[in-house]
Amino acid sequence: MTAEPGTRVLKADTADTVAAVAAAARCLSAGGLVAFPTETVYGLGADAGNGEAVARLYAAKERPAFNPLIAHVADAPGARRLGTFNADAERLAAAFWPGPLTLVLPKRPDCPVADLALAGLDSVAVRVPAHPIAHALLEAFGGPVVAPSANRSGHVSPTSTAHVLSDLRGRIDMVIDGGPCTVGLESTIVACLEQPVLLRPGGLARAAIEAVLGRALKLPPAQDMPLAPGMLRSHYAPKARLRLDAKAPREGEALLAFGPGALDTPMPTLNLSPRGDLIEAAANLFSHLRTLDAPGTSAIAVMPVPHEGLGEAINDRLQRAAAPKS
Ligand code: TXA
Ligand code: MG
Repeated sequence: MTAEPGTRVLKADTADTVAAVAAAARCLSAGGLVAFPTETVYGLGADAGNGEAVARLYAAKERPAFNPLIAHVADAPGARRLGTFNADAERLAAAFWPGPLTLVLPKRPDCPVADLALAGLDSVAVRVPAHPIAHALLEAFGGPVVAPSANRSGHVSPTSTAHVLSDLRGRIDMVIDGGPCTVGLESTIVACLEQPVLLRPGGLARAAIEAVLGRALKLPPAQDMPLAPGMLRSHYAPKARLRLDAKAPREGEALLAFGPGALDTPMPTLNLSPRGDLIEAAANLFSHLRTLDAPGTSAIAVMPVPHEGLGEAINDRLQRAAAPKS
């Protein structure tokens, strides 16, 4: 879509809500970035299935690394299309959705969320927000919307449109102004992969969750919250070794290329972006790594990716994937 000169602010107080939500849903469908209120904090939304829109979202936030994002859906049936619910997840969803609770679930094989938004993980974080504007937007859009807090990386989460604009004006297409957020703290994140684990304390109290589960939540293995994806034990790492800053593949290696230079090699090759575009490269990163990480490939040679813009985050992920496995 053509870039907006600035960021449109859509008032959603009374009669204007329906029109604002419809315009925002169209913007998301066109690959745009829309900030919207939830009961916890303002989120910066993008179409979860559109890898390039997700890449632009990371660029707007200036995230130095690709943290996995929360997929927001209108209701529990929408969530079931993304992840698999065990008995604990069923109980928590029934008790607390819609509301300030995010569940991390094993992702379904047909989960439509872009690999980049999941940072290559096999799990997906899902939330059904209670805020009427968030709910209306998700209904109108009709699919999952990934939405990190609508702030620049390293800044605090925004609870008003003024906060969103001071961080992101001119970097995103629009913001729906729904007034201040009532909870003001991000959602509580519980992983329901095996035993339920509290990954992030938040707007829903731990005691309420434990009362519904009938037992205590486990804490993550490290005392630090495992919120940087590199610290997640389950974080995606290819089985093949990665050889960074490669000029060309060696015998038995696959090649992850970048940029327009034609490479004449019989080895399996995928190009992150033949036109040298870092947004396109980010969108392709995790899926290309997965495709090249095939049985029989001893290593993946990776051509240099420039360090500017999203290149910083791309190189961060590549370096983590290349680090020796402990
Ligand atoms: O209240 C909220 O949750 C807000 C509103 C907008 O919904 N969103 C939010 O998103 O706080 P964000 O991106 O700022 O924080 C999401 C957190 C990150 O720390 C990320 O590491 C974690 O969720 N996360 C996402 N997917 C995960 C996964 N599969 N496994 C573990 N952690 C995950
Ligand atoms: Mg945040």
